Amino acid sequence: MKAPDENIENLLRVDRVVYPTPETKSRSYIQDYESEYRRSIADPEAFWDKVARELDWFTPWQRVLDWKYPWAKWFVGATCNISYNCLDRHVKTWRRNKVAVIWVGEQGQERILTYGELFRQVNRCANALKALGLRKGDRASIYLPKIPEQIVAMLACARIGVIHSVVYSGFSAPALESRIRDAESRVVITADVGYDRGKSINLKGVVDQAVANCSSVETVVVVRRETPGVPLAAPKEIDWNDWLEGEKPVCAAEPLDAEAPLYILYTSGTTGKPKGVVHVHGGYMVGTYITTKYVFDLKEDDIYFCVADPGWVTGHSYIVYGPLLNGATILTAEGKPDYPNPGRWWHLIERYGVSIFYTTPTAIRLLMKYGEEWPKKYDLSTLRVLGTVGEPINPEAWEWYHRVTGGTRPIMDTWWQTETGMILVTPLPSVPLKPGSATRPFLGVEADVVDRQGKSLPANAGGFAVIKTPWPSMMRTIYKDPDRYKVYWETIPNCYTAGDVCRKDADGYLWFMGRADDVIKVAGNRIGTAEVESALVSHQAVAEAAVIGKPHKTVGEAIKAFVILKQGHQQSPALIQSLKDQVLKELGKIAVPQEIEVVESLPKTRSGKIMRRVLKAKELGQDPGDISTLEE
Ligand code: WTA
Repeated sequence: MKAPDENIENLLRVDRVVYPTPETKSRSYIQDYESEYRRSIADPEAFWDKVARELDWFTPWQRVLDWKYPWAKWFVGATCNISYNCLDRHVKTWRRNKVAVIWVGEQGQERILTYGELFRQVNRCANALKALGLRKGDRASIYLPKIPEQIVAMLACARIGVIHSVVYSGFSAPALESRIRDAESRVVITADVGYDRGKSINLKGVVDQAVANCSSVETVVVVRRETPGVPLAAPKEIDWNDWLEGEKPVCAAEPLDAEAPLYILYTSGTTGKPKGVVHVHGGYMVGTYITTKYVFDLKEDDIYFCVADPGWVTGHSYIVYGPLLNGATILTAEGKPDYPNPGRWWHLIERYGVSIFYTTPTAIRLLMKYGEEWPKKYDLSTLRVLGTVGEPINPEAWEWYHRVTGGTRPIMDTWWQTETGMILVTPLPSVPLKPGSATRPFLGVEADVVDRQGKSLPANAGGFAVIKTPWPSMMRTIYKDPDRYKVYWETIPNCYTAGDVCRKDADGYLWFMGRADDVIKVAGNRIGTAEVESALVSHQAVAEAAVIGKPHKTVGEAIKAFVILKQGHQQSPALIQSLKDQVLKELGKIAVPQEIEVVESLPKTRSGKIMRRVLKAKELGQDPGDISTLEE
C-alpha cells in the first residue's frame, strides 16, 4: 500500500443531514448513540462482556480479552458453539415453529424452513459428516449456489467443529482448486447446477476439474437439482439426499473452545494468492450477533432480506450467522436483481413484506439505470430499515435508494471487511445520516483516520482508516500464513490498518474514499477514486464510472475515467465536455479527468467491485497480475 506522504485531498462536500423520524428513533434499541458510544469505549471489555452474556455458553470465560499485540484471544477459557446459539437456543422456545429461512429460487420456487426444521436438517447433516469420519478441526469446502443446503452445510460443520471454507459458486475451477488445496479439505459439498439469468451453470463439472488433482478430497457430496440427476461415481461421489437418508435429526453441538476456528474464507489482496481469513466461534458470534441486532434494529417480527451470497463474508455474517443468532426470519433469493426483470427485488419485498433490506451500491446503481418506474410498481411500505455494504455509496445513489423506498427509511451505510468479520463503522437507525458517509464507529470500536506514523489527523484531512483496539470478531490469522496477518497490525504501529483511505469530518463522521492502492496523485494531491466516480455518476447520463491514474509528465498522474452511459444517451464531444464540467462543479479542477472513455462494461470482481488495477494494466499495457476474482 502507498504511504500517505501527503494528505489526501478530499473534495467532495455534502451538507445534507437526514434526521431519523421520531418513530424510528423511539423504537430503536440504541436511542442515544453518543452517550452509549462514550460508555462503550471507556471500557470496551465491559461492553463486550455484557453483550456476550446475551448468548449461551457451555462454560464461562475467565477473561474477556487476552491481547498480545498483534494476537488476540477473546472470552478466554470459555466453551461454546455458534451453531448451538443459532439453533438450539431458539428451538428450546416458541421459536421452534418460527420461520427461519424463506428461500426463493430463480424460477420463483419457494422453500420455507422453520427453526425446528433447520435444526433437524443441520443435525442430520452433522451426523452424516461424522459418518464420513470428519472430526473437530478437519476442513470441508462448500461450493454451492444460493440454496438452503448452503446454510445447512455451514451450520452442520460448525456444530461438530469442522472448519468450513465456503467458495462462491461463480469461481472457476483453478480458483476453487487452489482454495481446496490450501485448506486441505476432506469433503467438498456441491450441486449439479446453479442458475444464472435462466441459464444453468454446470457446477459439478467445475468441481470435477478442481478435485482431479486434490489428494485431500475423499468425498464429494452433490445436491442434485435437475432431473434426471447427473451420474455420480460411487463411492467417492454421493447424492445429498442419500447422504442424509437415515441420519438421526439429533446431534449434540460439540462444546468448543471460544477460540476454535469456525471458518476460513478466502479473500483477495491486491496482488498474490488469496488470503484464507480465519474466524473463530466465540468472538465472531458475539460481534455478528450484536451488530445485526443494533444496526438493523432487528425485532422479532421483522422479515430480513440480505441480497448477498453466503459465498462472501456478507452472506456469512449477515445472512447466516448474525440473523440466526438473533432468531430472525430471513429471506434469501437466488439470482440477479434484474432477472427476469428489474422489478425482481422490489417484487420480493412486496410479496414477503420485507422490513429490513440490505444491498450494495453496485446493485443500486444497476437498478437506477432502469429507472424509478420499477420500484414504483410495488408496495414497499413494509420497509423499515435499509442497508448497503461493499463500497462507498455515492450520494446520488443514496438519494435514489432513499427516495424510491419512501423517503423516510434510514440507510445504514455499513463499512467493514472480510477480515473484520462484523460491521465496524455504521450508522444506527437513530443516528443522523449524511448521504455518502458510513457515519460513526459501532459501539466498542475505536476507529480513526491517521497518517503513516499513526498520528490522528485533523478534521477533514484524508489519511488511513484504522481501528485502534481489538474487537471480538476480528480475524485471528491468515490460514497457514501468520506473517500476512501481522501486516494488518504492523503497517501502522499499534493500529489495525484496513487499507482504505478516509477522512473524518468535524462531527466525527467517517467518509471512506476507496482503497489506498487506488489513490491517484495529481499535481501532488492525492485523490480518492471513489470521489471522482461519485461525481461522474451524479451526471444524468452516467450509469457507472471507474477512474485510474495514468503517469503524466507534468502533473505526476492524470485521471482517466471509464464510463458506462445510461440507456438513451449517446457519446458525443458535447457529452464528454459536460461530464468534465460536472466533475469540475462537484470536486474542482484538480479532479477533472483528462480523458474520458465510454465503455460497455467494466472489469469487476465476482462480488461486484470494480477492479481498477485491471483497467490500469490494460491502459498501460502491463500485466494485470492475479485476475482469478475477475467476473468476466
Ligand atoms: C470496501 C465487504 C466504503 C472497503 C464487507 C473495504 C466499503 C472493502 C464499505 C472490504 C462502505 C466495504 N463504504 N467502502 N460501506 N463496505 N467497503 O472484504 O474498501 O469484500 O476495505 O468485505 O470493501 O471488502 P470485503
